[in-house]
Amino acid sequence: MKSEQVKKVTAFIGSPRKQGTYGAVREFEKYLRSYGEIDFEYVFLKDYNLERCKGCKLCFDKGEEYCSLKDDRDLLLNKLDNSDGVIFATPNYAFNVTALMKNFLDQIAFVLHRPRYFSKAFTAIVFQGIYGGESIVKYLETIGERLGFHVAKGCCLTALEPITEIEKKKIAQKINKASARFYKKLMRHVLPTPSLSKLMIFRLFRTSYRTITDEKFRDYRYFREKGWFESDYYYYVQLGFVKKMAGRFFDFLAQWIAKRKLRI
Ligand SMILES: Cc1cc2nc3c(=O)[nH]c(=O)nc-3n(C[C@H](O)[C@H](O)[C@H](O)COP(=O)(O)O)c2cc1C
Repeated sequence: MKSEQVKKVTAFIGSPRKQGTYGAVREFEKYLRSYGEIDFEYVFLKDYNLERCKGCKLCFDKGEEYCSLKDDRDLLLNKLDNSDGVIFATPNYAFNVTALMKNFLDQIAFVLHRPRYFSKAFTAIVFQGIYGGESIVKYLETIGERLGFHVAKGCCLTALEPITEIEKKKIAQKINKASARFYKKLMRHVLPTPSLSKLMIFRLFRTSYRTITDEKFRDYRYFREKGWFESDYYYYVQLGFVKKMAGRFFDFLAQWIAKRKLRI
């Protein structure tokens, strides 16, 4: 059994091979372990059976259990659920994540609608030969935010093979900094107060769902069961005056948009 203090960190790796991206995650693990005791797991997406999403949207509308694909999705979701911290690591393939990583993201996309990882830390590592990876880091950070994670700024590492000693040193410095940022989030006990943009996203979604009031719609039931139709945010926070007023405005706006769409 893992003790209370030992944090479980899982790295989901989207490379089809064990080279640059894997090496970067190993380095990240090394630094992380220098800060404190960590239970670290590697998940190589290439070793899991993940079918391609058929686009039926049943997971969005009715629930994830209605997905017709019988594969390892739930196994991977369990790994996310049982982690205190998560790393999504991928090479840059044609200015994007690899197909392995994208397929994984598509399969868990329903969690973007029904976020759940509020007390967990997240970061992204992108490895590339030349350029274009910074926007992939940003993309993965957005995914992390929308899944509910507490996101630490990720890192983009660049080196053409064979990697020189200078490149290795530069990469190690970047990973060192990224691991320190992640560790800080991992050890944080208090959930953060949302930024205005995060508050806006929450209020727009929840108020439009509340206005639509459709019991058949899984997102509606999820938000109702979580008590999110009455709460200020996904979790308890004390909002200051400005955010309270802004929240009311976002609620009003979402209601107005939903009513217009439904012509109530
Ligand atoms: C199909 C493919 C597309 C790639 N596209 C890019 C790219 O757009 N930009 C870039 O900088 N590197 C690109 N690369 C280089 C990889 O990002 C680089 O080789 C990286 O080290 C691969 O990670 P790995 O060592 O973990 O496999 C591409 C490589 C492949 C195989």
